[in-house]
Amino acid sequence: MGHIRNIWLEYGFLMNPYHTDHLDATREDAALYIHRETEETRLGNFLASEDHGAIFVEGHVGVGKTTFVNQTQYLLMQDDSLPRILPSCSVVEVQNTSTSEELVFSIIASVLRALRLHSPGVEDSNIFREIKSYTWQAQITSWTASASIMGTGGGNGKITTQTQPVAISLQTLQNLLDKAAILASERGFERIVLLINNLDNVNENHFFSLLHDLRDTILGRSRWLFVMAGPIGMHRSLMSSTIHRRISERIAGEVVKLDPLNLDGVFEVIKKRVEHFRKQESIKAPVPERTIEILYNASRGEIRYVLNRANGIARMVAQEFTGTGPIQENLALAALQKLISDEVRANDLTERQWEILEAIVHAGNVRPKNHDSFSLNSAQAFINYLNRFHRLGLIEQERFGRETVYTPRGDIALFFKGISL
Ligand SMILES: Nc1ncnc2c1ncn2[C@@H]1O[C@H](COP(=O)(O)OP(=O)(O)OP(=O)(O)O)[C@@H](O)[C@H]1O
Ligand SMILES: [Mg+2]
Repeated sequence: MGHIRNIWLEYGFLMNPYHTDHLDATREDAALYIHRETEETRLGNFLASEDHGAIFVEGHVGVGKTTFVNQTQYLLMQDDSLPRILPSCSVVEVQNTSTSEELVFSIIASVLRALRLHSPGVEDSNIFREIKSYTWQAQITSWTASASIMGTGGGNGKITTQTQPVAISLQTLQNLLDKAAILASERGFERIVLLINNLDNVNENHFFSLLHDLRDTILGRSRWLFVMAGPIGMHRSLMSSTIHRRISERIAGEVVKLDPLNLDGVFEVIKKRVEHFRKQESIKAPVPERTIEILYNASRGEIRYVLNRANGIARMVAQEFTGTGPIQENLALAALQKLISDEVRANDLTERQWEILEAIVHAGNVRPKNHDSFSLNSAQAFINYLNRFHRLGLIEQERFGRETVYTPRGDIALFFKGISL
């Protein structure tokens, strides 16, 4: 008998019921989805009514944005009276070093993937081949150019972050986008929806300048609809930035704000997964509800965090003990305690940083102007600490107009406050 086990099978599941993958715009995933009707109507109306432009979906990290956007697209696809959309199937991520050309290319690549998925056989068409070979070639050129720059830069002991712009005219890019839209429409898709993700991690000004550059190329293109999933306050910040006048008419005035699911909603998500993935009807969720509630409260409703920690607890308990079934509450909490303290302690922080972090937890939430209460003599000094904590994923930031508010993430809150029932 070996020591290698499938712990989910031992718990009675065909698959990990606490996985943190987002749900796609598919029927299988729709069975696991908890609806958010008000927000679905808002986003759905935009996607069903507009011919071009962008809309912002804002919410905290891990609150369910990608899932929500995908499942709203799925709803639209189910209604024959609405324009037929080609749903986004892979997310387009913006990086701090992305150029506008790179962004357009990743958009085109994403559309080709969506077409392949939703219109089998499309890869044999001439237009598809043409777009693909062009995109491919351009990406190779761009990649080779940046690799050779990095090569010489490294040799001189300098780090260069500059990448050589691909020599592609705006006209060419527009032609490619138009070709992709024609191909989609030939295949029966009246609109192309694209999800631009990952905006929490990208420098806001960089993103805004990309939008500015792409105003006519993509934001104004007929048949292209963009959903920008980002942190709370991003739209407002765009509207108060200097480029807003140039692009405001391309961006929906209304923002879809996604609040955390309530606790019952999270229980419901887990229940659906348990019922979907269990081998027999008698099988129960491994992690007790009370533990889920503690995770929920500590993270202020971040479902990704709740699932991830529940997953960790179930794994740890399975590793330490044989005989897996529903986990006793005290055992679940002991496992959680261990998971958290190992992970939080692994952060490389100075004593002063630990001290400040702990004080932030006790304050609940802070703003740079509160620097006095942390014995720091300027807001900037405090911001330096806050930025570091944010980069490490220890705290979360939220914008309220000009003000940024910082709040501890789940692990940090539990680490300093202790896990109690
Ligand atoms: N309404 C929902 N119904 C069912 N499951 C959900 C729902 N919302 C989120 N989830 C689940 O919660 C997890 C996190 O969701 P998702 O990845 O969509 O969040 P996100 O806000 O896009 O995260 P990030 O900020 O990291 O991009 C996923 O496993 C997803 O399946
Ligand atoms: Mg996401």
